[in-house]
Amino acid sequence: MERTLSRGQSARTGVVWNVLRAELERAGRPLRVVDVGGGTGGFAIPLAEAGHAVTLVDPSPDALAAATRRAADANVRLTAVQGDADGLAELIEPGSVDLVLCHAVLEIVDDPHQVAAALAASLRPGGAASVVVANRAAAVLARAAAGRIDEAAALLRGEGRRRYDAQTAAALLSSAGLRVEATHGVRVIADLVPGQAADADPEALLEFELAAAALPPYRDIATQLHLLARA
Ligand SMILES: C[S@@+](CC[C@H](N)C(=O)[O-])C[C@H]1O[C@@H](n2cnc3c(N)ncnc32)[C@H](O)[C@@H]1O
Repeated sequence: MERTLSRGQSARTGVVWNVLRAELERAGRPLRVVDVGGGTGGFAIPLAEAGHAVTLVDPSPDALAAATRRAADANVRLTAVQGDADGLAELIEPGSVDLVLCHAVLEIVDDPHQVAAALAASLRPGGAASVVVANRAAAVLARAAAGRIDEAAALLRGEGRRRYDAQTAAALLSSAGLRVEATHGVRVIADLVPGQAADADPEALLEFELAAAALPPYRDIATQLHLLARA
């Protein structure tokens, strides 16, 4: 995967930013962006700084307050709206969005199919959804590596909180009428390497993540999966 973003890039989010940067460059104009479950604005603020019109939707007043504060500190405009992904259609005009983000949210919503449909409905034709989900395989391996075999086995059976693999995540988005264009692994090794090694050479870690992100089987053991899907 080619490296295209420098500012703010880290091994934790560099793969996602690379895909987003390519999408922004492809459009070549300021986009209407909605970050659903955008939290404290880790993605929304840099996108607003880059000149895009960003709305952050989140049910947490604390997250919204933090995001609003960060936007003020950065001297950028951010529209912060309190609400659930499930109710997106009441908050955002259908068919009006160029890029909708839904990162680390589909695991915790009541009905992921309803949310996937809401993401799709928010997009104008040709718009894109950037979706990050927790990867079950990574959770299984992490428990096993920590010696928690019973927990690993339970996760392997599909128990515990909602998680995905590349196929089930793609099927969820496809069922909402979105066309998955790319799937990348996020944090293939970033959560595995000893902290000391990561701190010693963060560039090497980032380069590794970018190189492994699209390559099965490495992609498929990453902590998270990032999908870019088009309306
Ligand atoms: C793990 S954080 C992810 C934050 C951000 N998207 C990121 O990737 O850094 C999950 C976020 O989803 C929000 N959230 C929880 N339930 C939600 C729902 N039903 N609809 C939308 N967002 C929700 C939480 O308040 C929190 O900010």
